[in-house]
Amino acid sequence: MASDAVLKVGVAGLGFGSTEFMPTLERLPQIELVAAADSLRPHALRAFESRYGGHGYASVEELCADPEVEAVWISTPNQFHAENAITAAEAGKHILLRKPMGVSMEECQRVLDAVERSGVKLLAGGQTQGTSPHTHAVRKVIASGELGGLRAINVWAYTGWMLRPRMPQEVDESMGGGVVWRQAPHQIETVRYLGGGLVRSVRAMTGRWRPERPDGSGYYAAYLEFEDGTPVTMVYNAYGYFDSVDLVSWGEDKGHESRAKTRKAMLAGEVDEEAGKERTRFGSPGEGSIVGGRADRPWMPGNLGVFIVSCESGDIRMSAAGMYIYDDEGMRDVAVPQPGGAGMTLDSEVMELYDAIRSDKPLFHDGRWGMATAEVQWAIIESAKQRKEIMLQHQVPVPPGF
Ligand SMILES: NC(=O)c1ccc[n+]([C@@H]2O[C@H](COP(=O)([O-])OP(=O)(O)OC[C@H]3O[C@@H](n4cnc5c(N)ncnc54)[C@H](O)[C@@H]3O)[C@@H](O)[C@H]2O)c1
Repeated sequence: MASDAVLKVGVAGLGFGSTEFMPTLERLPQIELVAAADSLRPHALRAFESRYGGHGYASVEELCADPEVEAVWISTPNQFHAENAITAAEAGKHILLRKPMGVSMEECQRVLDAVERSGVKLLAGGQTQGTSPHTHAVRKVIASGELGGLRAINVWAYTGWMLRPRMPQEVDESMGGGVVWRQAPHQIETVRYLGGGLVRSVRAMTGRWRPERPDGSGYYAAYLEFEDGTPVTMVYNAYGYFDSVDLVSWGEDKGHESRAKTRKAMLAGEVDEEAGKERTRFGSPGEGSIVGGRADRPWMPGNLGVFIVSCESGDIRMSAAGMYIYDDEGMRDVAVPQPGGAGMTLDSEVMELYDAIRSDKPLFHDGRWGMATAEVQWAIIESAKQRKEIMLQHQVPVPPGF
């Protein structure tokens, strides 16, 4: 096949998550959307067919049996990621798997084994704030050595993630829900990318203290140490009382009252979460919107919250336009171009997989990278359970050239 031939992609799971990458897949000339699978929302399949002219299937198995499909983009709920990826690998399909790669180390290993057996390409990390243009720009400054060596990273986020409409699997830890399984990859991928990838150990506590969300953690505080001794603190509070947007000069949290109202309604059992979530999903009128989200607010870099990187002779933090660099001359705001505007751009991930398939280029965010990120998630939960430092075993470095 010609090295520039269009890649025929099938999408598994046409929910809210799919609305983030569908515009990228639709826009890139290297990609053709040919099929989709969704087992619960036939109306989304009809919307897909009328928009792209492809085939809609009621199961991931049927999608993977379609000979036209070359690669499957998996965006089903977390508890199905491993099973769906193994089905795709066994059918000889290349895979782009949303975070997390699996919800246990054993699941991640099974995916890795299936992919290695079948010889397909798997992109299992990325699609987080870790691949945003801001994060790339910060890494470039670190790698240039202009501020001296990397010494510490601190990332603290406060959001209302737990107060948005959620399906049980999004907020139930036993099904891969809660902030550790759902949100931590944004911080972990960013931190691992900036620090070189190799996390040595994790000590963490998780918190689950709100009655409106009894089944999954809405908080974690983690201390990570890289192999070279660089320390990292990562904190996430998703209960929605305080929002860290208030801490940046370009931000203002205008959502206190609506979140308080939502919290009261949830406690009174008056929120129809299925209907709220449905409004955000592919093929629904509010497609792609976050209910109760940030549409009316200035943008701040993703789910990272307060984010400060310390080097030997300076600090870096993200700004609205790019990043502030504090060094021996004072402070400057360096612009970072954002090709896709404030939204999530997934061009680099799509092209990473495309180039791996068509030109056999090595993947950065391969199965081993995805498993290493999932290992940090698992270690946060495990450390909190055991109240001990967890030593990691599956870490891989950022490959040269990235
Ligand atoms: N920025 C991000 O990284 C980001 C944002 C949102 C969602 N996501 C990821 O997307 C995934 C889905 O989350 P969501 O918020 O879109 O949930 P969702 O409920 O909106 O979407 C899931 C979709 O999959 C379908 N589905 C459920 N079970 C299925 C099955 N067994 N086979 C086929 N289809 C099935 C559902 O009908 C639904 O349309 C999660 O893994 C989540 O982590 C990532």
